[in-house]
Amino acid sequence: MYAQALDQKDKAPSVVEDPEHLARFEARCAAEEKIEPKDWMPEGYRRTLIRQISQHAHSEIIGMQPEGNWVTRAPSLRRKAVLLAKIQDEGGHGLYLYSAAETLGISREELYEQLLSGRAKYSSIFNYPTLTWADMGAVGWLVDGAAIMNQIALCRCSYGPYARAMIRICKEESFHQRQGYEIMLTLAKGTPAQKEMAQDALNRWWWPCLMMFGPPDAVSEHSQESMRWKIKRFSNDALRQKFIDATVPQGHYLGLTFPDPDLKFNEATGHWEIGAIDWSEFKRVLSGDGPCNRQRMRHRRQVEADGAWVRDAARAHAEKRAAREAAAKIAAE
Ligand code: 3HC
Repeated sequence: MYAQALDQKDKAPSVVEDPEHLARFEARCAAEEKIEPKDWMPEGYRRTLIRQISQHAHSEIIGMQPEGNWVTRAPSLRRKAVLLAKIQDEGGHGLYLYSAAETLGISREELYEQLLSGRAKYSSIFNYPTLTWADMGAVGWLVDGAAIMNQIALCRCSYGPYARAMIRICKEESFHQRQGYEIMLTLAKGTPAQKEMAQDALNRWWWPCLMMFGPPDAVSEHSQESMRWKIKRFSNDALRQKFIDATVPQGHYLGLTFPDPDLKFNEATGHWEIGAIDWSEFKRVLSGDGPCNRQRMRHRRQVEADGAWVRDAARAHAEKRAAREAAAKIAAE
């Protein structure tokens, strides 16, 4: 997430929509109808979806990097196979999501260009390093746990292709979350050094995971409109609270301590309450100055350049095949 991403909001002029079309569209959203690619939609709805779905796709693709860091060092063949499968799933999620974004009239090339030029965002969480094996546990348990909390709601999003893509993604994310928790459980029940490693991972990942849900509702610029259009079903703070309530007991079961002296259960509300989130850290990461922003983008650009010959070869092969088929068709006539 580079600095310029913050300044490069969609600067396209706002479009004056036909009031009748708009009223019908708003009524369809209110009636929980699915909006499909060929249906009329306001330009703002289309732009919001492209922004959100592409940010989501980029997150899946960049999110492969922190885990890729541990493939060669996974502690057993089983762990390596599981980790590889999980990373492959993330790549698949990115591809479904790019396809969903393409139904809104933007090309794959344009989406990639937005990521590589730093104009598009990806999730803040993937700008943190994975320092020990326990981070593979914490990423699965907490990062995928947070992702799934947000994404279950997206299965009911008003835009059909996005909602349908999320169903399979959520099934796979659920496996990812469990495999992460199982790693944490193994470490937490292991030697004191292993438990310490699990605790250290929780200490480093807890707060950044809470930031994944986005800024507080009071300053979330897109929430109100996205909720009216049924793109978002819950606000950022509501999902963050759901995640906290689900995750704190899981951490306690592991015998771990959350890095928050103010964490307490409120008997009256039935919710866990947390201390203040350091939003200045979130802003720093979004502006391109997180621990790994530069490294993540450098790696992504390098991979894109390294893969150019594969794309060229595939294109040449497809052209050759099409020419051969066309020639065979003419010969047969
Ligand atoms: N990281 C980076 N940017 C973030 C962010 C985060 N964690 N949270 C919010 N932002 C950005 C928004 O994109 C927006 O910036 P923009 O106007 O330049 O696009 C700005 O901060 C204001 O935030 P809003 O709350 O107004 O933005 P949204 O209404 O879009 O809500 C969201 C943010 C909740 C992340 C929403 O976009 C969403 O639900 N996205 C889909 C899910 C997603 O992208 N998840 C990312 C993680 S995927 C993942 O973890 C992969 C898995 O395999 C682990």
